[in-house]
Amino acid sequence: MPVQPDPARPSLFTWEFAADPYPAYAWLREHEPVHRTTLPSGVEAWLVTRYADARQALADSRLSKNPVHHSTHAHRTGRVGIPGERQANLMTHLLNIDPPDHTRLRRLVSKAFTPRRVAAFEPRVQQLTDRLIDGFAARGSADLIHEFAFPLPIYAICDLLGVPAEDQDDFRDWAGMMIRHGGGQRGGVGRAVKRMRSYLAELIHRKRADLGDDLISGLIRASDHGEHLTENEAAAMAFILLFAGFETTVNLIGNGTYALLRNPGQRALLQDSIARGETGLLETGIEELLRYDGPVELATWRFATSPLTIGGVEIPVGDPVLVVLAAADRDPARFADENTLDLARTDNPHLGFGHGIHYCIGAPLARLEGRAALATLLTRLPDLRLAESPENLRWRGGLIMRGLRELPVEFTPENVEKLPV
Ligand code: HEM
Repeated sequence: MPVQPDPARPSLFTWEFAADPYPAYAWLREHEPVHRTTLPSGVEAWLVTRYADARQALADSRLSKNPVHHSTHAHRTGRVGIPGERQANLMTHLLNIDPPDHTRLRRLVSKAFTPRRVAAFEPRVQQLTDRLIDGFAARGSADLIHEFAFPLPIYAICDLLGVPAEDQDDFRDWAGMMIRHGGGQRGGVGRAVKRMRSYLAELIHRKRADLGDDLISGLIRASDHGEHLTENEAAAMAFILLFAGFETTVNLIGNGTYALLRNPGQRALLQDSIARGETGLLETGIEELLRYDGPVELATWRFATSPLTIGGVEIPVGDPVLVVLAAADRDPARFADENTLDLARTDNPHLGFGHGIHYCIGAPLARLEGRAALATLLTRLPDLRLAESPENLRWRGGLIMRGLRELPVEFTPENVEKLPV
């Protein structure tokens, strides 16, 4: 007798799933916590959905980040990893390498991308945030993704890297191509990646002759036991900082604002606490938004280099493993009231920034941008509300990231807090 499909088994990677993947992840966590699936690209991979397994897998050195360990070498066809990165000679970045290369490159970038550099950047982020809000404040409506969440991180990271102001709109266009095509047509992303690559190579070349205070100059200057980044490594590093730091932050602001607008009680608590000049709830709130509906749904690709067992399931050598951060972060075995948004949650070791040696190097910058964006929106647009019913909002269909295509909002222009000129 043919095996009947289980009617309760959820379908993955449909549009309904993209809109709300959490019930499907709850089913997997309970019934098949380590689940082998065929991705929309045709690549077979294991999904790890429980918190304890996810944390263990993220820290397991038998899971390599280097795609050469993939048994089918799907990366050669561009079906695994960032589209175009191979063609653009950008493979040697932090998310594709293991120790000892990873340790060396991460140490070098940490010397340039310091918490001090990020903290000193706060006034600039605030200025960018206010400028973007000023752009639509008089209208009483906006698409918060395109007019706010999208440009803020791209301008911020361009400034930090030292991309001259007159070139930043090119970056905005390339980033736009990436985000538009991310879910499906990988060709568009590939073209944008190639253009960014040649621009970065030229910029690094120019900076080498005239070092400044920016992060690219810092990368060129950084040395460890006399070792420097090669020009190619510096380009791959600048690229991954941009690539990893851009759409993620767009989605922290987008998903975060959406979650607040859908949870008016929590939003009011946060608005009141910000009005009182407190920062505590904003800080725990950003962590909770990362847990509740974080930007990175699945951690990036990992490949088994020796046989290993995750959650009692044997993973053959060469198989890809995808850790589902969004599922792990709602695991009731770790988080009480896992489906409730509780901005004051303090017991919150979420995996939204990953775990282990690949833990997000941009977390301090992401937190800074998230705090500035949400606090300024809630303060300056006090009656901000959704202009579309949630069922009509469209989510992006990409594999790794979770975010909205658009977020239409309304507010009363007369209530907008004006800034002193
Ligand atoms: C809310 C925003 C962000 C989120 C949710 C996020 C999330 C993550 C996650 C989950 C990882 C680990 C991936 C894995 O292990 O497979 C990661 C790594 C990384 N992130 Fe972020 N990220 C954010 C913002 C940023 C920013 C602003 C930057 C840089 C400007 C950045 C740069 C990186 C880099 C370079 C890595 C690779 C680190 C390594 O492999 O050692 N991220 N991020």
